[in-house]
Amino acid sequence: MAKVAVMGCGTVGAGVIRVFDMNSGAIARRVGEKVEVKRALDLREFPGTPIEKILTHDFQDILNDPEISVVVETMGGLKPAFQFTKQLLEAGKCVCTSNKELVAEHGVELLETARAHGVSYLFEASCGGGIPIIRTLNESLTAEEISEVTGILNGTTNYILTTMADEGKDFETALKEAQEMGYAELHPEADVEGWDACRKIAILSSLAYGGHLSYKDVDTEGITKIDAADILYAAALECRIRLLATSRREGNGIWALVAPMMIGHENPLTTVDGVMNAVMVKGNAVGTTMYYGSGAGSLPTASAVCGDVIECVKNNGRPVSSDYSSGPISLLPVDEVERPFFVRYRGTETEAIRKYGEISHITVLKKYPEEFGFLTPVMAEKTFKAIAAEDDKVIKWIRRGKKEEAE
Ligand code: HSE
Repeated sequence: MAKVAVMGCGTVGAGVIRVFDMNSGAIARRVGEKVEVKRALDLREFPGTPIEKILTHDFQDILNDPEISVVVETMGGLKPAFQFTKQLLEAGKCVCTSNKELVAEHGVELLETARAHGVSYLFEASCGGGIPIIRTLNESLTAEEISEVTGILNGTTNYILTTMADEGKDFETALKEAQEMGYAELHPEADVEGWDACRKIAILSSLAYGGHLSYKDVDTEGITKIDAADILYAAALECRIRLLATSRREGNGIWALVAPMMIGHENPLTTVDGVMNAVMVKGNAVGTTMYYGSGAGSLPTASAVCGDVIECVKNNGRPVSSDYSSGPISLLPVDEVERPFFVRYRGTETEAIRKYGEISHITVLKKYPEEFGFLTPVMAEKTFKAIAAEDDKVIKWIRRGKKEEAE
């Protein structure tokens, strides 16, 4: 029997305990032995629940238990998750985590520690919830030169944008619902300001391009400035607004960006609604591939963690390799990237044409008669920003995805 411990019994940790219980028969059949959660670490008490019987408040009970070979870290945050993880790896235990903050901040060091001690540090659940994207990059796509990773990588913001558009809910109500359903981070600014998606694209890009992309280098904008008018314009232009996280090879470099984008129906990511996430990966041999599933929530995320635990047990402690290394990936400036921009404008069409050139998709909404919306021609971001910064008729602008980006 393989013995496992869970550190952190919140939404995901409790889900891990539940999945191991709920699917114990199938798991035992596939692994060849039973997998038992022997210990659960948390500061809280869990009276009357299955956690109560295995609960400890002392990390040493897990660290010093020779029977426990794999530990799940679902505590979140950096402290004490980093120290605990490091000590566990040094003690020869595999660690499986959903903690994207920790992976993005200290992943390189923890992977090196794992390699040095002949164990694994696995983090499938850190990106895209239940979508098996890390293993896909580490295994199925290892023959590829990857040219792009673009995803909807945050369930909370996708839920907010979808319910604002489809149900006319306001931002605060939609966020509250996402929190109630266990999708949002403890501090939801991490979701709505784009930081969570930023960490995830940094992790996926590090694996895709082989190196270390620091999340601190990724230009990041959240969805807090998106309002009901923007959503109405998007609908009038037969588009959706989605928080996209992208990294793409261009020439000899890579650029990365997290930002709300207006995307049209040519892009399959427009159909990704609610808490669902999707990741599009382009390889030079395979072409465009896409992966879809629940991006947040207890059981989907727990499923990804449990898959990692099972991989560790099946590998009997042998380390699982990945292309995530310490060589830094430096980024090209996003300002060079060319695309159209959607602009809300309170000037005249003539002024807009004079400043931006051949504008198109001119749209007036009954509800907002004092302004109109339009699309600029394709232009470099720095060119657009330079013009818009000098133009006091601009109310707001949003990047518009290019048709060929979706292919
Ligand atoms: N808060 C995150 C999200 C949880 O909404 O996607 C999953 O990482």
